[in-house]
Amino acid sequence: MTSNYEYHIFSPYRVCPVGAHVDHQHGLVTGFAIDKGVDLWFNVREDSTVKLSSRTFEGNVEFEIDKASQVKEGMWGDYARGAKFALRKRFELTRGIEGVTQGSLPVGGLSSSAAVLIAYVMAFAKANDIKLRPFEIVKIASEAEREYIGLNNGLLDQSCIALSEKDGLLFLDCDTNEYRIIKRNPNMPAFEIGIFFSGLTRNLVNSDYNLRVYECKCAAWNMLAYKDQPLKIFDKTFLRDVPKSTFDETRDIMPRRFARRAEHFYSEYRRVRQGVTAWETGNLQLFGKLSFDSCESSIHNYECGSPELISIYEIMRPLKGVYGGRFSGAGFKGAVIALVDPAEKGNIEQALTRQYLERFPEYEQTFKVFWVKPDDGARFV
Ligand code: GLA
Repeated sequence: MTSNYEYHIFSPYRVCPVGAHVDHQHGLVTGFAIDKGVDLWFNVREDSTVKLSSRTFEGNVEFEIDKASQVKEGMWGDYARGAKFALRKRFELTRGIEGVTQGSLPVGGLSSSAAVLIAYVMAFAKANDIKLRPFEIVKIASEAEREYIGLNNGLLDQSCIALSEKDGLLFLDCDTNEYRIIKRNPNMPAFEIGIFFSGLTRNLVNSDYNLRVYECKCAAWNMLAYKDQPLKIFDKTFLRDVPKSTFDETRDIMPRRFARRAEHFYSEYRRVRQGVTAWETGNLQLFGKLSFDSCESSIHNYECGSPELISIYEIMRPLKGVYGGRFSGAGFKGAVIALVDPAEKGNIEQALTRQYLERFPEYEQTFKVFWVKPDDGARFV
């Protein structure tokens, strides 16, 4: 069936070992694209109609690419409409596409939403002869998610998906948008990435994701107000603009909840810096430990993670061959990721599955383990 289509885009999922929940505060992040993701096969149409179907979700999608964006329908087609919305702000769109999408892993924690948005942005651009630089794709897809879908996220997901290179770690400063791919040190031991799906999925727009973003901004406002510094409007307030020394002076007098969010931000900044050095020097043990510590801070300072995700993390942490890992993505439902020694994969899978299902027998059918590798970013195949 896919041979009926002239074009094929593969847009990978992403994992973030260190640098979580800080992109929206202009922090430092790291990540990989992986060799599982979303496929979009399509033909360019002569007219302006977009017609899409999915092998993963029910229902068909149809809309005109040259008309202003319609209201959201609360189904998967919203991502295609969002891509049109953000592209149309910059370019004239006249030609639609006809295509089919398919996701290769269960939804939850690997940023399938950003992956599919990037695939649509690339496809609509192709259909309309628009040449986009990789970072433009990142910005357009992220704007679609923020302004159309309604998630106040940063650039982590889109950057990992669009910019990654196989065997390299993406390091991005979400303040300056400068990034580099740090190649794997030849002395680093081999590793694979385990993806452990808890069995639960959730749409982030309905989670506490946006609430946490505002709590971070509130922490920044509190610190600045205590120090009699000028405030900016809330939208333009980011923890990155408040020096750590200000946090040290104000942490004990601000509400505990806000202090914990800020603690996560500043400690994650330090972990990413250390993690980049560990990666550069091939120190996978230390890189992994920083990922574990990052998860610990997500639990206690950022206060995300469901009982299911926390259990997976607790079970895997002492297992032989697990270098490190953490909740994937926003950490409300979904998956946990781990960097593991390939020789120990079988033992890890067995021990984790047994212990997790002892605690949560209700996920017998939906708990899943997958093994993946870092890969290149979104591309025409
Ligand atoms: C989700 C968001 C990202 C980022 C992560 C947490 O994946 O879409 O922007 O905030 O959560 O690091």
